[in-house]
Formats: sequence, structure tokens, C-alpha cells
Amino acid sequence: MSEKILFVDDEDYILEIAQTLFAKKGIKILVAKNAVDALALVGNNEIAVLVSDNQMPGMKGIDLLSQVKTISPDTVKILMTGYADLTTAIDAINKSEVFRFIVKPWNNKQLVDIIGDARKRYTLIKSLKKGDEAAMLSIVHALELKDASTRGHSERVAKYALLIAREMGFDADTKRAIKFGSWLHDCGKIGVSESILHHNGPLDDADIHMVRNHPLWGAEVARQARLPDVVVRIILSHHERYDGKGYPAGLKGEDIPVEARVVGIADIFDALTTERPYRKSCDIEEALDILSSIKGSVLDPVLVDLFLNIIRNYDTIAVSRQNAD
Ligand SMILES: [Fe+2]
Ligand SMILES: [Fe+2]
Repeated sequence: MSEKILFVDDEDYILEIAQTLFAKKGIKILVAKNAVDALALVGNNEIAVLVSDNQMPGMKGIDLLSQVKTISPDTVKILMTGYADLTTAIDAINKSEVFRFIVKPWNNKQLVDIIGDARKRYTLIKSLKKGDEAAMLSIVHALELKDASTRGHSERVAKYALLIAREMGFDADTKRAIKFGSWLHDCGKIGVSESILHHNGPLDDADIHMVRNHPLWGAEVARQARLPDVVVRIILSHHERYDGKGYPAGLKGEDIPVEARVVGIADIFDALTTERPYRKSCDIEEALDILSSIKGSVLDPVLVDLFLNIIRNYDTIAVSRQNAD
């Protein structure tokens, strides 16, 4: 690959460990001992992922990362910290300044996974910027591999959402945005670790916070890729609820963008009609009954009625779904 991974740390042994670890995976990484050298490398190379220590003499890691944001906006930034510095790191994540943080001493598997996710995010943004639909879909498929139970989910969500969009008479641009927004609605899960996604049973508060951040992180990816605002809004608001009890903003009723309300219905319908590790799938009628029972609380009642009508008059959908799986 022409794009590179850059590690920045003032301690030689950290850089050596990282180089050896990635060399074993067949990946050659660039290293720098301070922010000035790092900035020179960023200026002369295509850096996909930058991992920087925070506590360094001279410029701190966090300041280096914010400079890199200006020179190389697509570079995915990771902050390495000690325990004492954890608040800085979490703060930086919440402000979307960094993608993830790594606490030293790191766990090798975790480090390799985080860098792998960071590279996926970089490739995703690059292909989104090019507007290359085939490349976009192939990354969406790669993301779904992270969680096998969601294979094909994004494309099916797009299909159901477009049925509603057509009925609503949305224009071509909005329909295209709904398609992309559906494909990408969960792309923020690149930021959520696999151990959380595959966790069986209740999650602790910190993990719930991670999962609930996925609309924000996903919207940030779309924004960075300069996708239309509607796409950003769909990703950001697909977990809002009609009664205002959803996340991340707790928007209520018509304050939730209509395109996101549409995708929200499609998302829940597909989740219900697909087998998940923690439950069996419902048949179409059961799923429609459940949608009906959450009208006005979770979902927009008018749109749900519209969807029920569409699906009840469109029995070939079950057949085409089986073909798609
Ligand atoms: Fe989601
Ligand atoms: Fe989803």
C-alpha cells in the first residue's frame, strides 16, 4: 500500500516494539521521535494512520494531532497515553479529534485491531470522497464482517427505506441520500471494539457509551467525506425515537429528520426479520405487529402505517430477501 502508518514516541524502545510487531504482519511503519519530525513525514507521505504518544518533550501528542488535522485531514489519529492521561484522551475522542486511544503498555492484539479499524476508516473516507459506489459497498461489506449476524443488513435497510421513499414521492437526490445513509448508518461501529459488539449479556456503562456513540462517529465520517447533509443527518439520527427518548440528541417527533425516521423503520424491520445471536428472527407478520406496537413511541406513526401498507401489498419481498441472503 502506498499509504502509511506513522508512530510517534520519544522513547526508542516503544518505536522498536511497534516496528517489530507490524513487521511480523508484513507492514512497514514509519516512526518519528518528536512532533517536528512527524510533521515533516506527514508533509512528504500519504499517512493513513498516525499513532502518537501524548507526553513528549516539546510539542504534546494532542497538539501534534490537531496540527495534522489541518495538514492532512483524512489521516486517522490515535493517541497513546498513560493511565494518568486518560481524561485527555476521552475528551479528545468526544470532540472527534481522535479516533481511539491506546493505553500504554498496550495489548498487542488490541493495538493491531485498532490500527486495522483505523485503516478501514481511512479507506472508507477515501472511497466516499471519490463517490465510488462499488468501493463504498465493498467497505460496507467488510464492516459487516466484524459482526457476522449483520451480514447484508445495510443493503436490506436501503431496500426497505427506498420503498418508503418512493411512496413518499421523494426526489432523486433524497432517494440517493437515503440509499447511502442506509448503507452507512452503522459505519460508526468501526470505532466500537469487537469485544463490545460480540458481547452477550448486559454491557457496563462505559461500553454502552461506546455503542451509543456510533451515530456520532459515523456522521463524522460522512461529514469528513463531504457527503450531502441528508446522509450525515440519517447516520446521526437513526437511533432517535419519536417520543424523544432515543440517542444521541433525544430529538422528538418531527424534529427528527424525516429521512432518518424512514431509515429507522427499515433498520428495526430488518433487525426483527433477521436472526441475531441473542434471538430468533420473526416472520414478516410478527415483525409488522411489533412495528405497529411501537408507533408513536419509537417510530413515526404515519410512516409506520405507510410501511405496513407497502409490505402487506408486496409479498414478493420475502422471496427477494431469501435470494439476497
Ligand atoms: Fe445503529
Ligand atoms: Fe442497523
